[in-house]
Amino acid sequence: MLGGESKERAIHSSKLLYLLLITSISLNLYSSSSSLLLFLLPFGSAPEPWWTNPTSIEAEAVAAVRCSGHGRAYVDGIYVGGVPVCECNTCYGSADCSELSPDCPADADSGDPMFLEPYWMREAASSAVVLAGWHRMSYRMNNDAAAISAELVKQIRRLHSAVGNAITDGRFILFGAGSTQLLNAAVHALSPDDPSSPPANVLASVPYYPVYEMGTTFFNDRENRWGGTTSTWANKSDSSAAGEFIEFVTSPNNPDGHLKQPVLNVSSVITDHAYFWPHFTEIPAPGDEDLMVFTLSKLSGHAGSRFGWALVKDKKVYDKMSKYIQLSMFSVSRDTQLRALKLIKVIVEGSKVGGKDIFEFGYSTMNDRWRRLNDVVSKSNRFSLQSLSPQFCTYFQTIRDPSPAYAWLKCEREEDKDCEAALKAEGIISRRGATYNTDDRYTRLSLIKTQDDFEQLLQHMVALVSKESGPQVI
Ligand SMILES: Cc1ncc(COP(=O)(O)O)c(C=O)c1O
Repeated sequence: MLGGESKERAIHSSKLLYLLLITSISLNLYSSSSSLLLFLLPFGSAPEPWWTNPTSIEAEAVAAVRCSGHGRAYVDGIYVGGVPVCECNTCYGSADCSELSPDCPADADSGDPMFLEPYWMREAASSAVVLAGWHRMSYRMNNDAAAISAELVKQIRRLHSAVGNAITDGRFILFGAGSTQLLNAAVHALSPDDPSSPPANVLASVPYYPVYEMGTTFFNDRENRWGGTTSTWANKSDSSAAGEFIEFVTSPNNPDGHLKQPVLNVSSVITDHAYFWPHFTEIPAPGDEDLMVFTLSKLSGHAGSRFGWALVKDKKVYDKMSKYIQLSMFSVSRDTQLRALKLIKVIVEGSKVGGKDIFEFGYSTMNDRWRRLNDVVSKSNRFSLQSLSPQFCTYFQTIRDPSPAYAWLKCEREEDKDCEAALKAEGIISRRGATYNTDDRYTRLSLIKTQDDFEQLLQHMVALVSKESGPQVI
């Protein structure tokens, strides 16, 4: 028999044990599925939402504003008389975006990945994020100053494994404000530490994404400099005195959509896999490079959220990149990480599930645009497009037709030395070849903008090609 005091102690310790057990079960269940936690609530039912109600009512009211399918109202947009104003797509105007401006040029310039907006409209319920006023206010996260969400890291690894486009085992994962920041961090990290070493030469192969050169030149670090194109160095018999080399490889390439490999046999390569997703390219095998950079912008289309990640093999390079991120902005916004987590979870859970797979949606949209543009250009003697062929894709487990993010258009006529200007004269805004450090006979047409942008581009191209031998051509 237990005495009074020891009985009390025994009751107290069993209560404590019970509490610990419940806490541990709750935590375990929460980490695997937060919805299961609801079953552990005192009365066995989910609480009635109360603090999310005003926010969700406001969000749904704004989403319901009619913009004729040619625009969108936003919660943080402009309000007139308490009503959010429609922000219209290019060439559309009036209060409800219903009026198409007749002589508006087709704008195929920027790489704004709005083609995925309809997918997220469909997935409105699964992709919405509620952000409490007290959500992760601290500089730190899980008491970690690097403030990287472990759950987001886990989902990114799941994503790559589901898509089969990158090996994440044995890699450190680092977040940045878009891949732009990580590309700059990578150049810094791969440059020599020794102040007596000559600066590293940063290179890319033509045609290349211009921000590599612009970033390297603008930041003007002592330990690196823009070294030009790989072809300049490939032909030099002795380049050892020039110092180290850092080669940017963009695969698939912006602007021409080809999968690329390093050209020079150098130790430092930054592989920019911004477009290495089944929307834009076949996935022949998982990326296995030492330093790979990815971005949410071209995966989910959320360019405005500014989120990218790097997979880094070498600890020293990872540490230097981390320091760069820390000193430039401390860490990636917790709000952005939460949104990225939600979106990536939707993508992973929807992958290969009938109708929910973002890659099915992205691929069929991009392939449709490429096919339609090809049909028009194939009837022209004045223009041609880059040649891309059907290839086996390990994600779709089939041979797929091309679906590049950009059309790399060439003006074939002798007199059309400036292809961008030739298109502009006909009401098409494109991005000239010189931007990619190549011939102005080429110009880039973006295929990843809104459906409205694409339809306008196609209409203008039809009109332009029809002029070659009269309207009956198309
Ligand atoms: C090849 C390439 N890399 C990186 C980026 C930048 O992406 P982010 O939005 O992540 O900064 C772009 C954007 O167009 C791109 O085309």
